[in-house]
Amino acid sequence: MRALLVYESMFGSTSEVARAVREGLTAEGVDVALHEVRSAPAAADADFDLLVVGAPTHAFSLSRPTTRRDAVRQGADEDRAETGLREWLRTLGPKDAAHHRPAAAFDTRVTKVRNLPKAASTRASHLLSRHGYQLVSRPAPFLVDDVKGPLLDGELDRAREWGREVARAALHATSGSSAAS
Ligand SMILES: Cc1cc2nc3c(=O)[nH]c(=O)nc-3n(C[C@H](O)[C@H](O)[C@H](O)COP(=O)(O)O)c2cc1C
Repeated sequence: MRALLVYESMFGSTSEVARAVREGLTAEGVDVALHEVRSAPAAADADFDLLVVGAPTHAFSLSRPTTRRDAVRQGADEDRAETGLREWLRTLGPKDAAHHRPAAAFDTRVTKVRNLPKAASTRASHLLSRHGYQLVSRPAPFLVDDVKGPLLDGELDRAREWGREVARAALHATSGSSAAS
């Protein structure tokens, strides 16, 4: 199974989580292409069986140009404001192009509320499902101590484990039975 893993990160925490998720996916035998959103291929140009996306929560959702500029004012690298996951998800194309492929989304956030209904991963999951992808995991939050990080202790271990769970659920889903939760 080949996975496309696309992430956005302003200060580096989501990037660290993405690398841990890749380790988890790889541990289950998935071949992972990891891309920061600015250099990610459009979905239509990439060959993958599983799509995993991650982004920082900005203003209870995926980032927008205004929130990314706000992050730059708080010290993030200016180039990172160029584009974000919300913009990349627009390259997903029509619903039938998804072929019901498995997908999952994670985010980073400071809020400790676990099942926050409005966050980057809930928005991304909604868009994935609207574009015809089959969600194989609930939106997954990973916690940072403050806007610029660091991640809380144990979050990278959780991210590795989440990557493994997503891989197993995706393998199960593509082997013919439903594994969405
Ligand atoms: C403009 C802005 C808005 C934010 N809004 C939220 C928010 O609504 N909820 C939240 O939990 N964290 C919020 N945060 C904190 C980010 O989630 C945090 O900076 C991010 O997880 C760090 O990941 P990164 O290093 O990959 O950018 C916000 C941060 C910025 C810069």
